[in-house]
Amino acid sequence: MKRTLGTCYYPEHWNKELWAEDARRMVEVGITWVRIGEFAWSRLEPIPGDLQFDWLDEAIEVLGAAGLKVVLGTPTATPPRWMIDRHPDMIAVDVDGQPRKFGSRRHYSFSHQGYRNECQRIVTLLAERYGKNPHIAAWQTDNEYGCHDTTISYCDAALVEFRKWLADRYTTIETLNTAWGNVFWSMEYNSFDQIDLPNLTVTEPNPAHALAFRRFSSDQVVSFNKLQADILREHSSSPVAHNYMGRITDFDHFKVGDDLEISSWDSYPMGFLEDRVGADPKRQKAFARQGDPDFQAFHHDLYRAVGRGRWWVMEQQPGPVNWAPYNPAPLPGMVRLWSWEAFAHGAEAVCYFRWRQAPMAQEQLHAGMLRPDSSEAQAMDEARQVRDEIAKSPDVSISQARVGLVFDYDADAAWAVQPHGEGLSYFGLVFDAYKGLRQLGLSIDILRPETRDFEGYDLILAPGLMHMDDALKQALTLSKTQVLFGPRSGARDQDMNIPLPLPPAISGLDVTVDRLESLRPDSPEAFETGGAFTQYREFLEGSADIVLRTKDKFPALMRSGQLSYVAGWPDVEGWRSILTSMCEQAGIETLDLPDGLRVRDTENERFWFNYAAEAITYAGRVFEPASVTRDVN
Ligand code: GAL
Repeated sequence: MKRTLGTCYYPEHWNKELWAEDARRMVEVGITWVRIGEFAWSRLEPIPGDLQFDWLDEAIEVLGAAGLKVVLGTPTATPPRWMIDRHPDMIAVDVDGQPRKFGSRRHYSFSHQGYRNECQRIVTLLAERYGKNPHIAAWQTDNEYGCHDTTISYCDAALVEFRKWLADRYTTIETLNTAWGNVFWSMEYNSFDQIDLPNLTVTEPNPAHALAFRRFSSDQVVSFNKLQADILREHSSSPVAHNYMGRITDFDHFKVGDDLEISSWDSYPMGFLEDRVGADPKRQKAFARQGDPDFQAFHHDLYRAVGRGRWWVMEQQPGPVNWAPYNPAPLPGMVRLWSWEAFAHGAEAVCYFRWRQAPMAQEQLHAGMLRPDSSEAQAMDEARQVRDEIAKSPDVSISQARVGLVFDYDADAAWAVQPHGEGLSYFGLVFDAYKGLRQLGLSIDILRPETRDFEGYDLILAPGLMHMDDALKQALTLSKTQVLFGPRSGARDQDMNIPLPLPPAISGLDVTVDRLESLRPDSPEAFETGGAFTQYREFLEGSADIVLRTKDKFPALMRSGQLSYVAGWPDVEGWRSILTSMCEQAGIETLDLPDGLRVRDTENERFWFNYAAEAITYAGRVFEPASVTRDVN
């Protein structure tokens, strides 16, 4: 498949005399897709019921006539001000009980029925009007669910829906009391109507209560999205997408993706490095103008797994962003590199955010493809280069990787409600494992926790799956694959209780977690042979072989046949030795890549990406800074 480019455009921000020229220039630079409309509600309906679609009709016509394919966004991330007068209680409430005011975006609660009806109304109007429009080649629901910490709202609407959700799930209040262990601290309820949201408690709420609320909040996002997707599908045969935001894990993207044809994500490598990857000053300095070498790849692999296999980058950083603590400009070559890394992982399209830099409002300091005066900004030439390379190079063809990594949003929620130590997070653990694999030169498929067929994989990593259902345990233990469990595998039952027999209770692997501890950042537990556990470790007993030990003589890695268990959170060196041992077992050859140099294997090519600001010499070859090199296998 030929990969394509796109951009994000806001016709409502510009005088319409500019539209045709913008469209012509987009086509010239190689743009196929133009996403519009996702924040335009106040122009579509300036006062309630006064619908103004003429300008959008015209914009779509101008863009389409120039040869562009339009992705039309539903405007539900930005309800206009009058909406708040109509539904004052639709505003989300933060953990401290404070309403989150109008004046930016995403100012709504997913649980508010009145707002859902408004969304249903506007999406239906859009779908009816544009569903058969030949220029509308795809749709986007809302914008970045969960961004700005908006998945969870402690509002009254959420309370009403949460009680219903609990009654549905547990049927009787006795069942809920038992499942949550509410006898502890006399927290037993007499009816579902007595259950409150788990904020503003004197000390921490029951983790079972907190986890249930997170699961409920995730389900609200899923049903909110489905409401829109169903309407769009009823009127249009064009695919429906959503643009997820990097490092947002507080709702289940796999479940949202089940209702969409395309999953897409918004990639801001340098913003993420400063803001979301985790503070590592050395790496932040080294990659300040490039972004973390593994963070984008992780999300590419994740979104290839979310939904039905089709995925895009809906927004790609084209220059400095405005929202991170520091916002340098990318190194020349990075826009091209980021684009090709996405394609090498299977992205169908990469869309640059945004076409022209806005001279007004919140994102004035966010680069676009054009400056506010319409002259070309940094990314234009690199976009042209990518356009030419797509045209002359062979199609990227994706194949199954040999290594799979199970990723579970529910485990992320479970870690969040009971971390046991500062800085402990499921995402952090999984991402460290992923980085370790990339450093060994491996290509990875991320797998959802419902996966039962591991055919074709030689190695599966399933770290940190706090609750593992029996079917997954069984599928993994019966597969012929090398499997790495731990830490915290099967550590809790469905309702956050310690199960019996004690974890991990994996048949065929005689390992039991005897006790555990979280570690101060300045007190890692070193392995005998290099590497250490940082932040967290478990003390294991059982008859499985001890493959690695800590210096204080406790098992760090235990193994029985194809099943292994790691007893903590390894540091970089620790992951290297554990993953090297796993790959040896699995018969997978590894590289030892310098930080900055990364590879990605497709069906018949090996892509090399040099994220470093300097040339890297590796295996007798020189890789230029910020470069992409393609080898045909
Ligand atoms: C994204 C968002 C865009 C824009 C962009 C700026 O999170 O979807 O609308 O705000 O960030 O980097």
